[in-house]
Amino acid sequence: MVAHSCGRKESEEVMKIEQILYGGDYNPEQWLDTPEILEKDIQMLKEARINTVTMGMFSWSTLEPREGEIQIEWLEKIINNLHRHGISTILATPSGARPKWLSDKYPEVLRVREDRVRHLFGARHNHCYTSPIYREKIRTINMRLAKELGDHPGVILWHLSNEYGGECHCPLCQEAFRNWLKGRYSSIKELNTQWATTFWSHTYQSFEQIESPSSIGEEAVHGLNLDWKRFVTHQTVDFAKWELKAIRDAGSTLPSTTNLMYNFTGLNYDKVAEIVDIVSWDTYPVWHKYQKDITVAWDNGLQHDYMRSLKHKPYLLMESCPSSTNWQSVSKLKRPGMLETASLQAIAHGSDSVLYFQIRQSRGSSEKFHGAVIDHYGGVDTRVFEEASKLGRGLANLTEIIGSNVNAKVAVIYDVENRWAMEDAQGPRNKGLYHYESVLKSYAALRKYGIDVDVISSAQKLDKYKFVVAPMLYMFRENIQEKIKDFVRKGGHLVMTYWSGIVNQSDLCFLGETPHGLTDVLGLRRTEIDALYDGEVNGLRPTIEGGFNQSYESRILCDLIELRTAKPLFTYTEEFYAGSPAVTENRYGNGVAYYVATDAHEDFYMDFYKKLLPRAGILPLVEGIIPEGVTVSSRDSESSTYLFLQNFNNKVVDIKGIDVDGFRIYGTGGSKMEPYSTKVFKKFVKSKS
Ligand code: GLA
Ligand code: ZN
Repeated sequence: MVAHSCGRKESEEVMKIEQILYGGDYNPEQWLDTPEILEKDIQMLKEARINTVTMGMFSWSTLEPREGEIQIEWLEKIINNLHRHGISTILATPSGARPKWLSDKYPEVLRVREDRVRHLFGARHNHCYTSPIYREKIRTINMRLAKELGDHPGVILWHLSNEYGGECHCPLCQEAFRNWLKGRYSSIKELNTQWATTFWSHTYQSFEQIESPSSIGEEAVHGLNLDWKRFVTHQTVDFAKWELKAIRDAGSTLPSTTNLMYNFTGLNYDKVAEIVDIVSWDTYPVWHKYQKDITVAWDNGLQHDYMRSLKHKPYLLMESCPSSTNWQSVSKLKRPGMLETASLQAIAHGSDSVLYFQIRQSRGSSEKFHGAVIDHYGGVDTRVFEEASKLGRGLANLTEIIGSNVNAKVAVIYDVENRWAMEDAQGPRNKGLYHYESVLKSYAALRKYGIDVDVISSAQKLDKYKFVVAPMLYMFRENIQEKIKDFVRKGGHLVMTYWSGIVNQSDLCFLGETPHGLTDVLGLRRTEIDALYDGEVNGLRPTIEGGFNQSYESRILCDLIELRTAKPLFTYTEEFYAGSPAVTENRYGNGVAYYVATDAHEDFYMDFYKKLLPRAGILPLVEGIIPEGVTVSSRDSESSTYLFLQNFNNKVVDIKGIDVDGFRIYGTGGSKMEPYSTKVFKKFVKSKS
């Protein structure tokens, strides 16, 4: 047994994990005709030290081959067998892919596209979230699964569906959308005001006239587009809650999760995270695509930190690939060591699991060439199996890390609703605003300094941080401007960048000065914004009073600003606005607010944060120079700090320049780090207050 649930609501700890969960998605329904393979799998899993499998997400047609004929015995037998061998099951609800009989008999379960065409049967993740019939059918099967397996000692966690996402524009969803709007706006007049519908004569007379956005209909009302996205999140979460309710109604108290996706903008994950006990996510980074893997590591690290920050608790890595995927444009093999490094990156950022897609490679259909722990050859003498087994043995040495958390004092605001609005806005640069890249640029620069970073939405509190970066926060919602003001007044250090504080939560432009509500905090006012073509460059020149001494490039967007109390740290080098301020500093209350008015080069951010962070009392996790391509991160338990050094270089690096205060509990000794390798150090700390 690797975990058990312990009183979900009463206790902080939703699930007592005793070993790092190691394993992944397993689809035994594909192998029921070859029981000898299923038997052999168990031996191989044990050899790889695999202790957990996720089953059931695509089993509906085997669980209910004909309407109402539910057959769970085969699955129970497999769960029993695995459990006998010390392997636990994460049990999925099967809503991610439905049986053919269901769509044939009840076509309403089939999703309707934005151009109002209904799907045929096929593929997956394509059901209508509103359909009462789909809901009834999933309730029936979820209840049966929960009744029969919900307190099985071998089952540790509910996995709701699979990668919820997508939208449906069917008549049922249209009606649900209208009802949701009625709850959001007190009257149709209020809706018209918030959506600015007098523009182009789009005024609605009643809620009944409203249709979801469509390429053959309305796309120009940004308030409608934004609310539709919010509704899609609402309806998906409502469906997930419905799935969970069936499980609870059937008496199962096991904790729940659902697997989230990399850089997915179809849902506001804040709202999804609220309804599950543990956050989990799936990651398939494009390792070895770029000259330097550290480029990918920062991006993946950002996503890990975003997932952890949804609940500020340990989370689970639900899926990752043990070798190469088969759906990326080029599916490269993981170079030796990369499997361990990528997997431990999750642990370093706060995951209590390393789980793969998939345990055994399928024989046919669209994922037959997707990497797996056990491939078509089926033996233990494969490179991937050997690396996976080595990692399984290694993870056993990290058991004490389970439950420890990351206590970052620095946060980057990445808000998906802001991204929805900004990307839809039709503004200065429809060729691409590079919002995500700007978030990543700041994130990577902060991490390179050698600190832990949270990635939070505008809905979160800022109290626990000393340093907050708000890149391109175009939309101010959830009172973020008040929270920022309060944060700086009380002594916080803020970096805000260009194109911030422009619209409210309805995507209506603020009237008056911008960044809205923060002109006193920043000591300036934004007056205009210039957009640059690809390849066009402006520059940042340090001012004498700023204390910086290097110049940097800037691209994409340049805010023009009018200073009040702020002092200029850099000015623009080109254009009619050459010499005008481009980076500023302003004291406000007990804190400091900086404004970076343009998309500065990554070198700028590195040097800038290196100077600013110590002023905010933020010191790196290690002393000394961290070699390029090496990451530093930490997790804290009550009594210890665990420090992770990871080498994402394809070459040996020397870390003798780093002063690591602690003793090694993982990885090789000495100051050398092998290509793609990890060292973990433990440091005892006095009780933390
Ligand atoms: C997703 C899905 C899995 C599988 C993998 C393949 O993450 O959840 O079922 O299709 O992709 O990489
Ligand atoms: Zn629908």
